[in-house]
Amino acid sequence: MNKKVLVISSSPRKGGNSDLLCDQFVNGSIEAGHTAEKIFLKDKKINYCTGCGTCIDRGKKCSQKDDMAEVLNKMVGADVIVMATPVYFYTMCGQMKTLIDRTCSRYTDITNKDFYFIVTAADTNNNAMERTLEEFRGFTCCLEDANEKGVIYGTGAWVKGEIKGKPAMEEAYHLGMSL
Ligand SMILES: Cc1cc2nc3c(=O)[nH]c(=O)nc-3n(C[C@H](O)[C@H](O)[C@H](O)COP(=O)(O)O)c2cc1C
Repeated sequence: MNKKVLVISSSPRKGGNSDLLCDQFVNGSIEAGHTAEKIFLKDKKINYCTGCGTCIDRGKKCSQKDDMAEVLNKMVGADVIVMATPVYFYTMCGQMKTLIDRTCSRYTDITNKDFYFIVTAADTNNNAMERTLEEFRGFTCCLEDANEKGVIYGTGAWVKGEIKGKPAMEEAYHLGMSL
């Protein structure tokens, strides 16, 4: 079955470590015959959630006029969602958290998805990524039928592009291919 794959790249570094892993995942999934798209979040205007309650309390659309409605449409329409973040102070980066908070108006429409997480960090210890992964799970546990299918650990990479030549590059490609 041809799947729609949405890859969300949140690092502010275009061509950085997590962004390269996103590209590998996209290439693998296209190779396997799926339709894949990467969103580079820094190219989008996504404001913070203001907690105004328009969506939750009054059941109305989010009143903010930015690119989030477009991103949400893509999330709702995808079969597979890949969320990639650099690890900043052992948490996800602010861009990714801002995106997650802004799903508030439609998170109940993001149903029946397979999720993959990509994390990159200078730290070489995969176990140290658990805190960041738990943050992603805090999001997916709020969704109906969200299935975590895999994690790519881009550890031991500090400098931009350092991930090249590490096993995570192959892993990302093969995970994309295995969908
Ligand atoms: C503000 C900031 C905070 C960081 N905090 C951590 C950290 O807590 N642990 C870690 O292992 N690496 C940390 N790093 C290193 C990045 O996670 C690492 O450079 C990663 O490869 C960046 O991914 P990217 O190239 O996709 O942006 C930090 C980097 C920055 C800029």
